[in-house]
This record gives sequence, C-alpha cells and structure tokens, in this order.
Amino acid sequence: NKGNYEHYMQKEIHEQPESLKTTMRGRLIRGGSCKAKTVLLGGLKDHFKTIRRSRRIVFIGCGTSYNAALAARPILEELSGVPVTMEIASDLLDRQGPIYREDTAVFVSQSGETADTLQALEYALENGALCVGITNTVGSAIARHTHCGVHINAGAEIGVASTKAYTSQIVVMAMLALAIGGDTISSQTRREAIIDGLFDLPNKVREVLNLDQEMKDLAKLLIAEQSLLMFGRGYNYATALEGALKVKEVALMHSEGILAGEMKHGPLALVDENLPIIVIATRDSCFSKQQSVIQQLHARKGRVIVMCSKGEAVSVCPGGLGRVIEVPHVEDCLQPVINVVPLQLLAYHLTVLRGYNVDQPRNLAKSVTTQ
Ligand code: UD1
Ligand code: F6R
Repeated sequence: NKGNYEHYMQKEIHEQPESLKTTMRGRLIRGGSCKAKTVLLGGLKDHFKTIRRSRRIVFIGCGTSYNAALAARPILEELSGVPVTMEIASDLLDRQGPIYREDTAVFVSQSGETADTLQALEYALENGALCVGITNTVGSAIARHTHCGVHINAGAEIGVASTKAYTSQIVVMAMLALAIGGDTISSQTRREAIIDGLFDLPNKVREVLNLDQEMKDLAKLLIAEQSLLMFGRGYNYATALEGALKVKEVALMHSEGILAGEMKHGPLALVDENLPIIVIATRDSCFSKQQSVIQQLHARKGRVIVMCSKGEAVSVCPGGLGRVIEVPHVEDCLQPVINVVPLQLLAYHLTVLRGYNVDQPRNLAKSVTTQ
C-alpha cells in the first residue's frame, strides 16, 4: 500500500523518521534514577563477551548493505577497539579470503536471502567464525543460519532501491558499537552524546526531508547529464558510494562515489566546467580537508555542489561559488543517516523526471538469489 505516495521508493524515503523509531524501540534506554543511558540488543546479549574477545570484526554484504556497514565502520572501530575489516561477499568468495575461528563475521542484508552473502555465510561457518546477522526479514535464510543477530525492524521494503533499510542498518550498527564498547569513564561523554543523538535522529531526519523540493529543483538541473560524481571521506565516504549507487540504479545515470582523499590520484583529471560533482563537507574532523578539496575543484573550474552543515554555506562556498545543500548537524557517526536522505531524494526525482521506472529499475531484482 503506497498510501498518498506515487511510488514505494518515495514512501519509503519519507517514512524514515518512523522506521528509525521502530528500529530503536525497546533498544535504547535513557533516564532512571542514575540517569544511565544504555543499549539493549536482545539477540546479542549472550554473545558480547565472544565478540569483544574476537581478533577482528569482518563486515560482509553487497550493494547498499555493504555501504551501510562501511558507514558504521569508524564508530565500531572507535568504541570497540577491535579491528574492523570490510568484505564484499562475492569478492570474499572469489578470493576464498581468510576467515578465522577468532573472527566475528557480521552479515548485513536487508532481504536476508542474497545468494552471495548467504554463500559467504556458509563459508564463514565452515571456517569456524562467530556469525552475526543484521537483517530486516525475520525467518530469512541469513537470519536462520547465523549464530545470533539483530533484526533491524525497518518494516517491509518494497522499492528495489534500498532506502529506509540503509538508515536503519546504520543505526543498528551504531547501537552495536555502543553495546560492544566498554562503558569506560573516558568514553562516557561520547557515548551519551551518541545515545542522545540517536533519540533525536528521527526529528532530524524529518527536518532534512524538507529538502524534497530543493532536491527536485536540483534534479531538473541535472536531468540531461551523462554523469554525476560524489566525493566523500571519513564517516561520509559511504554516503558518496550510496548516493551514487542510488542514482545509477534508479535514474540510470552514470554516477560514481569517490573517496575524496583519492582525488589527486586520478579523478581530478575528469574535472571540467560541465561534470557535476557533489562534495559532502558536513562539519566533522575531516571538514578542513574537504574545504581544501572544494578549493582545488574551484581552481579547476569544477561544477561543484556542496553538502554542508546548516549555516555553513559561507565557509564552504567563499564568494558564493556553486550550489549548496544545507543539512542539519548531528553527532559525526550519525551524520551519514542525515546526509544520504537528500541524495535518495535526488535519485528519486531524477528518475521520475527522466521517465524511468522508480520501483522496478531495468534489469534489477529486489532480492538477488542467484550468483
Ligand atoms: C525479540 C523479538 C521481538 C520482541 C523482543 C522482546 C523476534 C523476531 N523478536 O526482539 O518480537 O518484541 O524480543 O524482548 O521474535 N537473529 C539471528 N540472526 C539475525 C537476526 C536475528 O540469529 O540475522 C536472532 C537473534 O540472535 C535473536 C532472535 O533472532 O535470538 C531475534 O532477534 P531480534 O528480533 O533482533 O531480537 P530482539 O530485539 O530481542
Ligand atoms: C541497492 C540495492 C542492492 C542491495 C543488494 C543487497 O539499492 O538494493 O544493492 O542492497 O542487492 O541486498 P540485501 O541487503 O537484501 O542483501
């Protein structure tokens, strides 16, 4: 049921304030007499000891689910102290890459049925790793075959392009980081800031959804482009990859997410007056590096569109050069949840304006059950 919406993708983008609430329901605990703020993940409670002791955490997934894990990687590294590595399921299988008994392998999948991810799970089980699932579908193959896990509870996702599952996956992995990380004095302020940020996140997502019309206007401007680049780094490297994945899969426009730190090592050669480039430069520890990326793009007459924190247009666009997308500022590790939303909206509007099928993109299936 699409309700008042024209497409499932549109509905699923706009219901993210609610889906995120459902994801966190009963899992975030605040208040009480001692004002303790904690995270409760029922599906993992008997396994945290093993996870904390593991030699590394390996995230495994495909497409959007892989991107969600990439977005959560920095906070998991920071709070858990355990090394975190990333594997695209098919690549792990192609290489028969190393997975050990001392590893915690985390399988991220909306459908829970993706063949590549499922086969990588079988491989990790054979190798003796603790296998954890992060899935949206109760009773799915990945939920059944993992040792333990967390259901993201985002509600059924119908549009082939994953949107609300992505933001709920990131939130679950941020909660996972909080739950694994010890409650040391030194990390207390940080942990509380993240928990407060999680409580307020649905409101902030509602706020960023107000950019709908602005994104539609931007889509009109970009409708006839051949290509669109997205530059991100740090917490928002994943945002660049995910924004570009959305644009290519539904709007059928070439789009590439690029790690901004790699710009000088090749991509800079593409920059001219015509190629549109979205630079994600919201306020975090990478901000000054992104400012210098923007300067270098301007120096080469690049066609730059900057995503920045609210009120910071002047510091990212000196002299009013180029367009800006201003988004609400949240705790750095949660910023990917906010920043992806305008890009989801942009991909959606580009698709409608270009006359393509939003919910059933050419050649794609919701659940990829063959290899
Ligand atoms: C569970 C109930 C929820 C109830 C809550 C009350 C289910 C599906 N969930 O939620 O309805 O309100 O207790 O305490 O009945 N699992 C995997 N792999 C996965 C995902 C999950 O093995 O990929 C396992 C978990 O380890 C757990 C079970 O499935 O044993 C349910 O997981 P989850 O729904 O996340 O647990 P709760 O949030 O505790
Ligand atoms: C992108 C998309 C795909 C899926 C990928 C993994 O919007 O839908 O990239 O993310 O096929 O699917 P799941 O998460 O079901 O394993």
